[in-house]
Order: sequence, then C-alpha cells, then structure tokens
Amino acid sequence: MEIATFGVIGAGQMGGGIAQVAAASGLNVILHDIAEEFVAKGMKAITANLQRSVDKGKLAADEMQAILGRIKTVTDLAAMKDADIVVEAASEREDIKFNIFAQLDQICPPHTILASNTSSIPIGRIAARTSRPDKVIGMHFMNPVPVMKLVEVIRALPTSDETYQDTVDLAVKMGKVPAQANDYPGFIANRILLPMINEAIFCLYQSVGDCEAIDTVMKLGMNHPMGPLALADLIGLDTCLAILTTLHQGLGDPKYRPCPLLRQYVEAGWLGRKSGRGFYTYK
Ligand code: CAA
Repeated sequence: MEIATFGVIGAGQMGGGIAQVAAASGLNVILHDIAEEFVAKGMKAITANLQRSVDKGKLAADEMQAILGRIKTVTDLAAMKDADIVVEAASEREDIKFNIFAQLDQICPPHTILASNTSSIPIGRIAARTSRPDKVIGMHFMNPVPVMKLVEVIRALPTSDETYQDTVDLAVKMGKVPAQANDYPGFIANRILLPMINEAIFCLYQSVGDCEAIDTVMKLGMNHPMGPLALADLIGLDTCLAILTTLHQGLGDPKYRPCPLLRQYVEAGWLGRKSGRGFYTYK
C-alpha cells in the first residue's frame, strides 16, 4: 500500500520525534494532541531540533521549512480521516490507548493501519478494541527518535502479513532499521532494557553505589553511551514504572517487580528530564 499521509497521536517527546522523522522522509504528517498548548510545545521542540541541524550545516534552511510545512497540527481526532497510517504515541496507559484506538477505528477509512508506539502494552489487547485487528500493529521507536536507528515492529496474532510488510517498508523509508518482535509484554527492547535499569535503581536503593558511580561503571565498563540512571531520566521515570508494571503483571515473575525507590520518585513527581528532576537535576 502507498503511504502518503502519516498521522501521529501525541506531540510529546516520542510523538514529536516520530512526526519530525516522518516529515523529513517526505510524508505529509498530521500531528494531534488534546490541547493547543501541547501541539505548540511539540512543534517548538521539532523546530529547535531541525534548527540545530541547520546550524551544524547538516540541513539546508529551505529544507527545514519544507519539513515543517509538511506537518499539520490538530486537536480534533477526526482529522485522522485522511491518514493512511496512524501511529499512537500517547501516555503509556491502557485506558487511554484503548479509547484512542476505538475512536480511530470509527474515524479512519478501512485501509488505514493503526499502529501503537507502546513500549510494552500487548498489541493484541489494543487490536481487540477495533473492528480491524488485522490492521493493528506495534511500531516502537526509540528515544531520541531522530537519532536512534531501531524500530521494533510488533506483530500481534491477528496482524496480517500485508500490514506487517507495509509497516516494515515504511520504517525503512523513514531511514530506520526494523526488527520483528512477537507480542509479549515489553517485546524485545524493554524486556531486556528495563530489568537492567531496575537493577541499577536497586543498586542505588541499597547503596551499592551513588548515581555517578553506577552510571560510570556502565558507561566506561560496558561502553554504553549513557548510564542506566541517566537513561531512565531520558525515558521518563513514570514510563519506566509503567513498563516494569506491565512486565511484572504480564509475565507474573517477581524478577520484574519495580524497585520501591522508583515508585517513590514517580509519586514525588520526579519524572526525569521532562520534570526537571529525576536521578539527576536538569535546567
Ligand atoms: N533529539 C534529537 N537529536 C538529538 C537529541 C534529541 N533529543 N539528543 C541528541 N541528539 C543528537 C545531537 O544533535 C547529535 O547530532 P549530530 O551527530 O548530528 O551532531 C547526536 O544526537 C549526538 O548528540 P550529543 O553529541 O549531544 O550527545 P551524545 O553523543 O552523548 O548522544 C544520545 C546522545 C544519542 C542520547 C546518546 O547518549 C545515546 O545514544 N544514549 C542512549 C539512548 C538510548 O538508549 N535510547 C533508547 C531508550 S529506550 C526507548 O526509547 C524505548 C522505550 O520504550 C523506553
């Protein structure tokens, strides 16, 4: 299927990044959030990202304007009637995602693929909220989206071969490398990443080391680009907690129990970079 118009639900750090990359690959983008202030904030971040590339001489100024011109912002979900694919990147909460997919199913034409950027919620459970489960798939981008090459493409039991192939082709068109995962909680990326981050938080909780020591060990000892606590701050501590809870509940194994310190931070509103404070503080 020819995909020309790409809908994105959620103009936060993931949705904004996905919209930017889609527009940069020549697609017409419809970027939705529930309030004008959220779409404006998303566009501001996209503009700043592109401007950085212009300043570095990696992107021409007129190309930046062309990319921005391909992104239309909306606050009414009904605008998704024109999309060939919609990628949902809303909050990592099942009730929110179920509601969005049920609405999109009513709004979008029959050919539209409905994809979720969920980091861990089973795609089959989301697909069951629609009348087109064969057209529902996971398209999981990594943060920061403009930089990270991977897209995890998650097939649920009812996902059709055609939907899978169209999604893989789209990921490649967007300059990404797709990897196929099957539909178990956390898929591949977060099934492996989050237990490591959780263990780093347990190390802090049990005073095995302080933040700097834990992150330095993993950066310099394992050659990770950033330490697990700094990475948790980048992902968002509320998102980390949500993923661990999905792993814990979905797989029923106590090894996935979220560290109590992570819960405390989230309850205190210390969510990482986005709130200005997590394991580190940010301006
Ligand atoms: N948005 C866009 N571009 C960004 C960016 C952002 N938020 N942050 C950094 N960049 C760009 C910079 O502009 C720079 O671009 P150029 O090479 O064109 O100059 C490039 O990335 C490198 O940036 P820096 O030199 O500032 O910093 P760095 O070399 O330390 O890299 C990093 C920063 C890319 C974030 C790197 O530390 C990294 O790869 N960290 C690990 C990220 C990671 O693991 N992501 C996956 C998270 S898990 C996930 O997303 C899934 C989930 O469901 C939770």
